[in-house]
Amino acid sequence: MQSNQAKPFSAYQLREDFPALAQSVNGVPLVYLDSAATSQKPRSVIQSICRYYENDNANVHRGVHALSERATAAYENARGRAAKFFGAEAQEIVFTRGATEGVNLLANTLKKRVLGEGKTILLTEMEHHSNIVPWQMVAQETGAVIRYIPVVPETGMLDEDEAKRLFAGGVAIFSCTHISNTLGTVNPVQSLCAWAREAGAVSIIDAAQSAGHRKVDVREIGCDFLVCSGHKMCGPMGVGVLYGEGSLLQDLPPWQGGGEMISRVTYEGSTWNKAPHKFEAGTPNVEGAIGLHAAMDYLDAVGREEIRLHDALLVREAMGVLSSFPGVRIFGPVDESGEHAGVVSFALPGIHAHDVVTLADSHGIALRGGHHCNQPLMKKLGVPATARASFYFYNTEEDVEALRCSVEKIMRMFSKL
Ligand code: ALA
Repeated sequence: MQSNQAKPFSAYQLREDFPALAQSVNGVPLVYLDSAATSQKPRSVIQSICRYYENDNANVHRGVHALSERATAAYENARGRAAKFFGAEAQEIVFTRGATEGVNLLANTLKKRVLGEGKTILLTEMEHHSNIVPWQMVAQETGAVIRYIPVVPETGMLDEDEAKRLFAGGVAIFSCTHISNTLGTVNPVQSLCAWAREAGAVSIIDAAQSAGHRKVDVREIGCDFLVCSGHKMCGPMGVGVLYGEGSLLQDLPPWQGGGEMISRVTYEGSTWNKAPHKFEAGTPNVEGAIGLHAAMDYLDAVGREEIRLHDALLVREAMGVLSSFPGVRIFGPVDESGEHAGVVSFALPGIHAHDVVTLADSHGIALRGGHHCNQPLMKKLGVPATARASFYFYNTEEDVEALRCSVEKIMRMFSKL
């Protein structure tokens, strides 16, 4: 896979590219089912970062010496690569620290353009805290109100009739996750963005859980802005992408001030650089952008549609396995009426999610347990926490079988079988 040439899909072969997957944990081979929290990194990404530090390390945009020019070229090439990955133009791509920073940037700049007393920010009930809290902060400042498109708890899907009703009531900003990190629900982002457009709202898609798992094309989706995190798509931590439609991005005021984001500075005042540089104050995360470039090359070589299909296959198997145990509750879409991405949250009867993940860890399985930064959603679902298994293209059917064995042992330990 290191050559980035498309090859027939084999999770077993692809695993070989991930050094971290080759280890044992608690005396058994690691089964990593926590890619929704962060994905593992292929050797090509790790090596791209080493190569940068061993050869080209220099600050970007500021120097005329050879290393600085190479570092600048690598950084700007990464921007171009991200643009291609998302079907955008390079000037529409801002590098951020991740999806959270992307939402904070948008909340703090859009508030000056479209928010004010009584204006509506429309979210959904399945948003990650990172797509709720920044809006609560700017709503408090501006007098805007936040409304939520309801989730139907039984299906894990959005109530589309209610969504249409809410859009009809007038919306200034609509911000929505593409894929729920807890429910695995794949939201109909194209329709939602079309409704947002009809309502005259600015639309934002949180692609943190989708960008590395399927094709995400901003023009096809029809969103105004999109954010994602590099570390959930085989890239390094601390880097992410914010896409902003050309003229809308250009029109936003800057957020953070500092070097590089300016055109001219005097003691009396400053003028701003053009987008995207206007939004990248200070020395950027050059190694992050370079690592993300390598990650996007890697994902495209694997094939994003192949990844989507493989996720779906494993999650279907996992849901089948889990539902064969008595009293197990599975969250999110469970039948063919809604697409379920590679994340499955579940609750074992009378066993706390933290006990489940601790015991699974003793069996070498990395799961996640807790509220998954979805506290209001947990309340709506009526549970304090869930256990979550999340799959990626390097997981195999053997990993699902390991999950089954682990759940069986846990259920027996708690006398539930
Ligand atoms: N947002 C990450 C998750 O869902 C941390 O696990």
